[in-house]
Amino acid sequence: MKNDKILILDDEQIVIDAITKHLSRYNYDIYSGKNGKEGLTLYNDVNPILIILDLRMPVMDGVEFLRKINLSPADPCSVVVLTGHGSDEDMERCFELGISAFLRKPFNLYELLGIVTHSIALKKVELDLKAELIQREMMETELRLYRGHLEELVKTRTAELQKEIVDRTNAEKLATRSLKDKEVLLREIHHRVKNNLQIVSSLLDLQSKYIKDPETLDMFKDSQNRLQTMALLHEKLYQSDNMAEIDFAKYLNNLLDHLYRSYCIDTSSILMNTDIEDATIGLDTAVPCGLIINELVSNSLKHAFKNAEGGSLSVSLHKLDDGRFKLTVSDTGVGLPDGIDLKNAKTLGLRLVNALVVEQLEGTLEFNSNNGASFWIVFKELKYSSRGTKDGG
Ligand SMILES: Nc1ncnc2c1ncn2[C@@H]1O[C@H](COP(=O)(O)OP(=O)(O)O)[C@@H](O)[C@H]1O
Ligand SMILES: [Mg+2]
Repeated sequence: MKNDKILILDDEQIVIDAITKHLSRYNYDIYSGKNGKEGLTLYNDVNPILIILDLRMPVMDGVEFLRKINLSPADPCSVVVLTGHGSDEDMERCFELGISAFLRKPFNLYELLGIVTHSIALKKVELDLKAELIQREMMETELRLYRGHLEELVKTRTAELQKEIVDRTNAEKLATRSLKDKEVLLREIHHRVKNNLQIVSSLLDLQSKYIKDPETLDMFKDSQNRLQTMALLHEKLYQSDNMAEIDFAKYLNNLLDHLYRSYCIDTSSILMNTDIEDATIGLDTAVPCGLIINELVSNSLKHAFKNAEGGSLSVSLHKLDDGRFKLTVSDTGVGLPDGIDLKNAKTLGLRLVNALVVEQLEGTLEFNSNNGASFWIVFKELKYSSRGTKDGG
């Protein structure tokens, strides 16, 4: 650590010598001048922490010197006045000019040492405090800047987030609207398909008015019913929530009603028993399923009770434990002709049933002819994905 520097300004060499000799023992670097003018030069060159100042000096006295250096509490230097003539007014003026102690000659060297030590210690504390204050101010400024920066950052990010939210909401709105549009479109398509199928069916109906041959007439009716079966399905689809699946029980009841009406048969002459599992089924499965039921029920209504008073017809659909469906259509009529071969039947109806089960549903078909005709069909519901794979994506 460097020694503290003390500047002595006094016109009496003997005073300078005495103080220098005494203070040197306490690790101070001592500098001295004979008047205020010399003092100013030394003050600027040496930067002392303490000045011991005489008042009466030639060239420039102590008070003038004090005025020139213009002490302020922030300066790194304190002044102790040591004078032989100082009046109370002098003392007052000197304190006004910022000195820290006033001592009269003749003086005691130890007393001076005490004042010097104290003044220096006090000045050092002042300087430390000042440094600390400056550092704190710097930190505060930095903190303010940082906070400002942070606030700026938060503002920017908030604005970005708000924009993101607006963008996302808009995108969602757009997506919802586009979905709604597509839904409307799909509903419209099912509606039109249904209408078109019904138009074709009506055309066949009109055309059939010119047909005299009962067999041909029958074929027209079968075709009409096939069209109606599909039209009904599309009607159920556009009435459904998701336009992909229908409530199969409802569909089937409507289909059976339609067939009874179409063959002008009363449910009191041929009883209708239905036991349909509560299930929704997709279009891909429902179309072949509906057509199969149409064929089998039409046959029962047309052929089974020709010579009989009446009987009953049963249709049931159940889900098996393995997830497949089992469809049963049976009647209590005359039964199927002996030796009938569905695959190679000459007539379209049963061949269609066989083809729909095997090729469309990829299911199995069994039938027997004890106490009327009975058909059992077991199939899996077709899913879009499995169809996708089958078609090669
Ligand atoms: N449930 C049934 N009861 C009695 N005979 C039936 C039954 N289903 C089909 N058949 C007989 O099988 C024949 C073939 O039926 P199908 O292929 O549907 O032709 P279509 O109904 O046009 O005659 C019918 O003509 C009928 O003789
Ligand atoms: Mg038939």
